[in-house]
Amino acid sequence: MSESTPFRAAAAGRPVAISIRNVSQRFGDAGSPNEVVAVDDMSLDVRRGEFVCLLGPSGCGKSTLLNIVGGLFPATDGVVMVGDKPVKGPLPRDISFVFQESTLFPWYTIRENFDVAFKFQNVAKSEWASRTKQALEAVNMGAFIDHYPNQLSVGMRQRVNLARGIALGTDIILMDEPFAALDEQTRMVLGEDLSELLAKTGKTIVFVTHSLAEAVFLSDRIFVMTARPGRIKSIIEVDEPHPRSPDFMLTPKFSELRNQAYALLRDEVRQAIALAREAEAAHA
Ligand SMILES: Nc1ncnc2c1ncn2[C@@H]1O[C@H](COP(=O)(O)OP(=O)(O)OP(=O)(O)O)[C@@H](O)[C@H]1O
Ligand SMILES: [Mg+2]
Repeated sequence: MSESTPFRAAAAGRPVAISIRNVSQRFGDAGSPNEVVAVDDMSLDVRRGEFVCLLGPSGCGKSTLLNIVGGLFPATDGVVMVGDKPVKGPLPRDISFVFQESTLFPWYTIRENFDVAFKFQNVAKSEWASRTKQALEAVNMGAFIDHYPNQLSVGMRQRVNLARGIALGTDIILMDEPFAALDEQTRMVLGEDLSELLAKTGKTIVFVTHSLAEAVFLSDRIFVMTARPGRIKSIIEVDEPHPRSPDFMLTPKFSELRNQAYALLRDEVRQAIALAREAEAAHA
């Protein structure tokens, strides 16, 4: 699948924010029994202001690819560019992460947790207070600024986690299953918030999820991946402007896209389960 596949959505004409070229990732020594090829020759471009989703079975290399894009470790092969910079390590001014587990320090209040992140990402101190307030208010958590994480529910912590990713003010946010630990209703509401955020701020977001509905609701393009080694199997375009209303989910277009994604994924999920069984048998 060519990375230059034409697409219609608004982001199509915008400059490239992230360019992934022929990226492969191998863990373990080549040819050794513990060799794992997690990602195999993936190439794709993400446009500025685009919401792109990686959808694929467990173990297909989604987190690996996201971590490579974020500079957490270098790829075995290939190149990632952010704007005109090759990624050689973390780029705290350009990229922030939101992970599935809220990564808040339990001994700091929410405000202090944000301050730690601002410090790490070199945000000017004069901006800390206003950014924290604004981002927490965007996810309706403004009242909890001086609470400790363990005084919040899991859902609330994850909203704070999302707000921190936003507050850092980077143009690119990488999100690895940020809503996976949440109940369905909270997930849906946060999805709407995220779509609104995208419309307002023009952030570039690469998002990993296992939820077909979430992928269709949020994405401009969905990159459906094969079972390990992860490759791009197909690209689904969701040509629908942000902010998206929950009514979008009731349309035939939404159902069609969701079914299309599932049809593409079904065999890959079976393949991933077979791979996991094989690995288990080899280990026994
Ligand atoms: N540091 C590592 N060392 C060895 N193998 C690894 C390492 N990180 C990932 N892998 C392997 O690479 C493959 C891809 O892992 P990855 O976490 O990227 O998958 P994923 O698509 O994010 O899966 P999930 O949906 O379950 O989160 C898996 O087989 C995993 O075991
Ligand atoms: Mg993962």
